[in-house]
Amino acid sequence: MEPQTAAGKVLWHFTMSLDGFVAGPGHSMDWMQGLEEGERDVVADYVATTGAVLGGRDGWDAFPDASMTYGGRWSGATFVLTHHPGDAAPSPGVTFLDCDVAEAVRIALEAADGKNVEVLSPTIGAQLLERGLLDEIDIHIAPVLLGDGIRLYDNPGGSPIPLTLVNGDSGRIEVGLRFRPLRA
Ligand SMILES: NC(=O)c1ccc[n+]([C@@H]2O[C@H](COP(=O)([O-])OP(=O)(O)OC[C@H]3O[C@@H](n4cnc5c(N)ncnc54)[C@H](OP(=O)(O)O)[C@@H]3O)[C@@H](O)[C@H]2O)c1
Repeated sequence: MEPQTAAGKVLWHFTMSLDGFVAGPGHSMDWMQGLEEGERDVVADYVATTGAVLGGRDGWDAFPDASMTYGGRWSGATFVLTHHPGDAAPSPGVTFLDCDVAEAVRIALEAADGKNVEVLSPTIGAQLLERGLLDEIDIHIAPVLLGDGIRLYDNPGGSPIPLTLVNGDSGRIEVGLRFRPLRA
C-alpha cells in the first residue's frame, strides 16, 4: 500500500481480522500480538501523518491510556466522544466531548492542524460514513478469523455501501488473498 499522506483527511484506520472484526469479545486485542509489519515501517507513516485521534467511550474505557497510541510512538490530541463526559477520569492530552459527531470531527481537524484525523471507533466511523464525513478507510487485514467481537461495520438490514479501491489498478477490482489454517 502507498504511504499515507497528511492532508487534513478523516480516516477510519484499523487492523481487521479476515472476517471483519477490529476487536474480539470484550474489546480483546490479544489477537494482534505478533503481527509482522512487512518491509516498510507502516506505523511510521501513520505516526507522521496523524494529527489527532477521535475515539468512542467504550474503546477508551477498555484501554484508557492515550500515551500508548501506536505503541507510544505517536503523540497528539485525543478526543473521546461520550454522552457522559462528567464521569471520565481526566487524562493528559485527552478531551472528552459530548457533541454532534460532525462537531467532534471539526474540533479534531482543527487540532490536527493540516494532518489527518484517525477515527479509531467503528460506531463513530459508521455515523461519519452516513453523514458523508469520512474520507478514507485504511484497513490492514490480519491473518486470523475471530468469529466474534466488534465489527468494523455493523448495520443489519442496511444497504450495501459501495467503495472504490484507491491502491489498485481499478477501483472496482477484487483483491485476492490466500491463507491457510495454521494447525496446532
Ligand atoms: N483493530 C484496531 O486497529 C483497533 C484500533 C483502535 C481501536 N480498536 C477497538 O475498537 C473498539 C471500539 O469500540 P466500539 O466502536 O464498539 O465503541 P466506541 O466507539 O469506542 O464506543 C461507543 C461509545 O462511544 C460513545 N459515542 C459514540 N458515538 C457518540 C456520539 N455521536 N455522541 C456521544 N457519544 C458517542 C458512546 O458512549 P457513551 O455510552 O459514553 O455515551 C458509545 O456507547 C475497541 O474495542 C478498540 O479496542 C481497534
